[in-house]
Amino acid sequence: MKLLDWFDKARKESFAIGAFNIDSLEIFKAVIMAAVHRKSPVIVEFSPGEVGYFGIKNIVDMVKNAREEFEIPIFLNLDHGKPKNAVVEAVDLGGFDEVHFDGSDLDFSTNARQAKEIVDSAHKREIVVEGEINKIGGSSEVHLEEIDLELLKKSYTKPEEAQKFVEETGVDILAPAIGNVHGTFPVDPDLDIDLLAKISDAVGEKFLSLHGGSGIPIVQVKDAIRRGKIVKVNVNTELRATYKDALEEKLAEHPDEYKIYDLMPDVVEAVAAVVENKIEVFGSNDKV
Ligand code: G3H
Repeated sequence: MKLLDWFDKARKESFAIGAFNIDSLEIFKAVIMAAVHRKSPVIVEFSPGEVGYFGIKNIVDMVKNAREEFEIPIFLNLDHGKPKNAVVEAVDLGGFDEVHFDGSDLDFSTNARQAKEIVDSAHKREIVVEGEINKIGGSSEVHLEEIDLELLKKSYTKPEEAQKFVEETGVDILAPAIGNVHGTFPVDPDLDIDLLAKISDAVGEKFLSLHGGSGIPIVQVKDAIRRGKIVKVNVNTELRATYKDALEEKLAEHPDEYKIYDLMPDVVEAVAAVVENKIEVFGSNDKV
């Protein structure tokens, strides 16, 4: 089954597929291990910073090898790809199942025009394209500062703009801003599920993706999947934070160890536990 078939299945059966950001080899191993264990399809995704660290060709090879080794669907997504040329590079390289073009810094019509150009070439290669109109704020880190909720509300996605954008561009999936932010903050986000449901109606057959999956209360994530028909949830910060904490703990426990890979199995397990929990919340377990 291709990624779009999985999105279709997810919407019909009210579950979502986790899209997990990969910023180390250990996180990659953890995500695959968790998905295999929970018999779940999984999307591994790389933001521009993560692509820069790994190298785009290494990413494609790493995912190809994992697909050959494990009998679960493993999809590859370019996350928040920008500028347009970087997305085109991923499309032309092959190996990606999805590219997310983040044109949210551009004005609506430039964003739509560039998204359409990407769709035209990506669809020829059967690559799914995700679009974004309103910037999803924050960054994938543990934030100690407060977030300005009133300011955030000003950038929520409007259903009519979402409809116009998907119609003009032909993107397959849209990432709306409905109170979701990247990273974790002292106060949890409060998603506007009513707005999400309206956006879902407005985009019709097109799919919706929920960014900023870290720190959103479980009940809201489940509601976004059930009422808002979200089929993909992106998670990064909780994996990064778990990795960092687990690694710091192991290094402190073994100050004389120089074979760092000997310390890594516990780190991988700690991250895998977080991923398994997300898979359970998203309801994608036992779908393979
Ligand atoms: O595209 C990436 C995600 O939206 C990650 O968000 O760091 O809040 O989990 P997060």
